[in-house]
Amino acid sequence: MKWLEDPVFLPIICITLLIIFKLWQDRSKAPFPPGPLRLPIIGNMLMMGELTHRGLATLAERYGGLVYLQLGCLHAFSVSTPEIARQVLQVQDNVFSNRPTSITINYLTYNHADMAFAHCGPFWRQMRKVCVMKLFSRRRTESWASVQDGVDLMIRSVANSTSGTAVNLGKLIFNLTTNITFRAAFKAKGHEDQDEFILILQEFSKLCGAFDIGDFIPLIGWMDLQGINKRLKLVRTSLDRFIDKIIDEHMENPKSSNDVDADMVDGMLALAETKDVNGGEDGDGLQKSLALTRDNIKAVILDIMFGGTETVASAIEWTMSELIKNPDDMKQLQAELASTIGLDRKVQERDLDKLPFLECVVKETLRLHPPIPLLLHETAEDCVVAGYFIPKRSHVMINVFAINRDKSSWKDADTFRPLRFSATGDSAGKDFKGNNFEFLPFGSGRRSCPGMQLGFYALKLGVAQLAHCFNWKLPDGMKPSELDMSDMFGLTAPRAVRLSAVHTPRLNCGVSFSLLLRQREKSPVLFDLVASTLSRWFEQVDPFLLFQAYSYERHFSIGPLAITESGNSKFTNKNGGELSVKQPGLSCIRTRNPTK
Ligand code: HEM
Repeated sequence: MKWLEDPVFLPIICITLLIIFKLWQDRSKAPFPPGPLRLPIIGNMLMMGELTHRGLATLAERYGGLVYLQLGCLHAFSVSTPEIARQVLQVQDNVFSNRPTSITINYLTYNHADMAFAHCGPFWRQMRKVCVMKLFSRRRTESWASVQDGVDLMIRSVANSTSGTAVNLGKLIFNLTTNITFRAAFKAKGHEDQDEFILILQEFSKLCGAFDIGDFIPLIGWMDLQGINKRLKLVRTSLDRFIDKIIDEHMENPKSSNDVDADMVDGMLALAETKDVNGGEDGDGLQKSLALTRDNIKAVILDIMFGGTETVASAIEWTMSELIKNPDDMKQLQAELASTIGLDRKVQERDLDKLPFLECVVKETLRLHPPIPLLLHETAEDCVVAGYFIPKRSHVMINVFAINRDKSSWKDADTFRPLRFSATGDSAGKDFKGNNFEFLPFGSGRRSCPGMQLGFYALKLGVAQLAHCFNWKLPDGMKPSELDMSDMFGLTAPRAVRLSAVHTPRLNCGVSFSLLLRQREKSPVLFDLVASTLSRWFEQVDPFLLFQAYSYERHFSIGPLAITESGNSKFTNKNGGELSVKQPGLSCIRTRNPTK
């Protein structure tokens, strides 16, 4: 037994035992799911350009609902069927509820200081609570009021542009959602550089969706072969400017988090200041021991800026695109709006529950164009799904785009057919609240969207108002069937080309605002006087629409009013009521109240 004393014996035995143990361990594990052929070391990295929601849907057709991809040293999986989504988001959601990390996400979230990309844990739980209480809760009326005001502002902007010419509807919609988010979450009025801000958010989305080679082969990350690091620095510097301003404004005007009008930034600032080493709670049950840093606050503000702006805007823009592309559905929606609301006023919140076809249209758009097409999750531990092994810290992409078009769950899966959701339709009763795993626009489980109710309200009101106040067609004689419906890939999937459309007034009161605005500049006092008088006379009619009518035609019939202009501004009601406004004396004579 001399060989036992040989110095190489022990290492050889150890290595052999290690290999046998590893082989035994791997044998005891379930296999990896099927996937495209992997090259040594780099695995499927050459396919990175194809790993979009559409590319992954194509892979799923070939390999099945759970596909394995090896990206350098990273394991990635895509989920593309409702049943596997249920396994991941419901049955084992404790394992699948972390968020993946990447160079881009790290950098843009101030090192995971935010909520949307934080792992599940006390910080994430606490931040979600702050956001729900100070922003998303139905009890926070400010958030809901900001939607109504923002939509009104958008309608006025459309009306203000010359009727019969094309407007960049996509851009107007993005301005709308920026205004809503800023007012609801930060009590700020949009900002001067709105156009720049929207471009920055779009770049943010593209960067978050891009595959960075440095994530998969860390050794070459510093080379920045795709130029991503440079783009990241530019985006964060620009975003910092907007976010710092919001925080500074709140700090100059401090509020206790218990104040009724405190917003989510006030709530977070309170947590930043009042570190309580005993881990006490404030009036809202929030733990003071959390002690947020400025980076935390900045990162959560960014979550909300992004979560509330891009998602809702792309959903409204896609809905309008589908309605313009499918004129029969537009007609049906406008008929529902006209019969439920009438043509003398705009849509109000209380009307929304009485518009079942609107609900169908919006759901069908969310099905075909989910604003966040890939849900990005990470596993907290090794697990087995559908008989396949998924290791700890794997990236899991739940392909909502593919699931929402799953052919075994949806008839005519790729066709826009809103009536499928009607009471007698083949998908009646399917909702998006996370219980129907074939329809997941807001996700499901603990990481599902906390802004669902607010976002859905903004989406419905925005679409209803645009379809109710105007008729729409495509510019330059383009046919509906010719409308380009391609999308862009990023964290969100908005239209690749902004939607431009030609509007004409639909309500009895007509719609054009430009002349009135000129009038307002010439004589602001007159403008306000007439506006307030008219709104008192016709409580049910929006005074702005009356003015739009006035400016649209010099002689115009607007429901209860016939407006004539003869030297002085003179508003006459068909029933004999008359309102004369004399310039420049600014006297307002109401000869008879036309509503009586
Ligand atoms: C049509 C509108 C919207 C859609 C379709 C939508 C969709 C989604 C989806 C799919 C997720 C990820 C779910 C997952 O990973 O499993 C999400 C998360 C999130 N959304 Fe929304 N969203 C919308 C509106 C909003 C609004 C208005 C806000 C804020 C003002 C918002 C804030 C967030 C936040 C903060 C998260 C991260 C939650 C977490 O990780 O815990 N969303 N949303």
